[in-house]
Amino acid sequence: MTNFKEEFKNRVTFAIISHPDAGKTTLTEHFLLHGGVIRQAGTVKGRGSSRLASSDWMAIEKQRGISVTSSVLQFNYGGKRINILDTPGHEDFSEDTYRTLMAVDSAIMVIDSAKGIEPQTKKLFQIVSKRHIPIFTFFNKLDRDGRPPFDLVDELEKTLGIEACPINWPVGSGQILQGVYDLQNDRLVKYAGTKDFDQSVFDESMEEIELLKDAGNHFDEEKIKSGKQTPVFFGSALADFGVVELLEDYLKYAPAPSAKQTVNEEKIEPQDDRFTGFVFKIQANMNPNHRDRIAFVRIVSGQFSHGIEVTLASNGKKIKLNNVTQFLADEREQVQNAVAGDIIGLYDTGNFQVGESIYTGKKRVEFEPLPTFTPELFSRVVAKDVMKQKSYHKGINQLVQEGTVQLFQSFHGQEYIIGAVGQLQFEVFQFRMANEYNSQVVFEPMGKKIARWLDPNDVDESMNTSRSILVRDRFGDPVILFENQFSLNWFKDKYPKVALQRKM
Ligand code: G4P
Repeated sequence: MTNFKEEFKNRVTFAIISHPDAGKTTLTEHFLLHGGVIRQAGTVKGRGSSRLASSDWMAIEKQRGISVTSSVLQFNYGGKRINILDTPGHEDFSEDTYRTLMAVDSAIMVIDSAKGIEPQTKKLFQIVSKRHIPIFTFFNKLDRDGRPPFDLVDELEKTLGIEACPINWPVGSGQILQGVYDLQNDRLVKYAGTKDFDQSVFDESMEEIELLKDAGNHFDEEKIKSGKQTPVFFGSALADFGVVELLEDYLKYAPAPSAKQTVNEEKIEPQDDRFTGFVFKIQANMNPNHRDRIAFVRIVSGQFSHGIEVTLASNGKKIKLNNVTQFLADEREQVQNAVAGDIIGLYDTGNFQVGESIYTGKKRVEFEPLPTFTPELFSRVVAKDVMKQKSYHKGINQLVQEGTVQLFQSFHGQEYIIGAVGQLQFEVFQFRMANEYNSQVVFEPMGKKIARWLDPNDVDESMNTSRSILVRDRFGDPVILFENQFSLNWFKDKYPKVALQRKM
């Protein structure tokens, strides 16, 4: 047994967020390379035979050749044990991506320096920033011609509403990239790919740096810790330039796991003797032969040991944790030693649901619920085979409980409407209904809607129009699905006293 009361302090649990193609996978790969986990780059998402093909779990992922669901990687660097929670970078990302961000203590945001802030970067940033956790920024692809650095930093601050504090500054880019200037140690870190040193490029950057020193933000550790300021790095993941510097600086400031709030007054500290954690994601059918599911648990306190008995907060059920896995970068291993900050995977036969709290000891521990996210895409759904209503309802209820999609019902009557953050959730839902519940479903897409919740006392049947559809969520709370911003504004004018709320 290790001393878990000390051990958790060297855990760093984070996610890399980015718009697709900004370089998240390449950066992850180079982190693993420096962590000694892989020996050469190009092996993480090999797009062919890959070492981490084990993260291509579901058949649908294989069909589409993309990573649908978040995976977890663990490796050691500089005396720290690092857990990277991967968030799918595809356009069709889903609520899983958002929920994964509830299990991290900090984040690195990767931005393509030729493109700047892209839509998905912004969405993911907004979710992370609501948690007031540190966010580091990496402007990637400096080996290519990019936008002027001042432009990029300015856009970052304006679009995302966060202070930026450059830690290094590019000296040229693309063909004329000389290196980056390390602002904290006042030195030039040369780019190995530079043939001849170009004094004029250097001088120009030095002028920018003078400006930056006069007018830029000052490095403020407190602001960084609360997510008010983001340290900014420039580099190239592919050329492995500026990557070690980013990693090392990041590890210096990345926070260790902290206490987590329960539904009572109580906060659970990582060094608490009780083993506690919460399920942030459930992944089914990792092995099609076994129909197994894995519940991903973020440990909040105590220490995991093989065979411990935990209680499920939702129903008081007691379960012995015998079949548990950890996610080392090269293979899925049986857990040796897991403490606060670590992610473990529990093989599940249907006991867990997303958001479940688990704990040892007699006193009930229930963590604050995971937030619900506002779905943006909607579709009516019906069973193809009316004779199979039972498996249809069972499937829908279970998949909704897992958080695969969100379920709504027409205000009167039984019509099912499902909502999602990304289109892919519908496909996963349809696929799993067919494969796991033997129920073919048919969609009647409703397209994009703006969902807003309202107080049940404010509900008036006349609010239900073709442009504002009144529905109930799965808890029975009223929601209006607006056609577009215009119909939302129209509603606000007509019912100025009705408060409309969005979820996270
Ligand atoms: P993602 O996970 O954020 O979606 O991005 P990923 O790392 O897969 O990178 C997207 C593309 O950008 C890849 O090229 C990758 O090689 C390239 N890339 C990443 N970092 C850099 C960089 O620092 N400089 C340059 N020049 N390119 C970079 P691809 O052609 O789409 O894929 P591949 O076939 O090369 O793997």
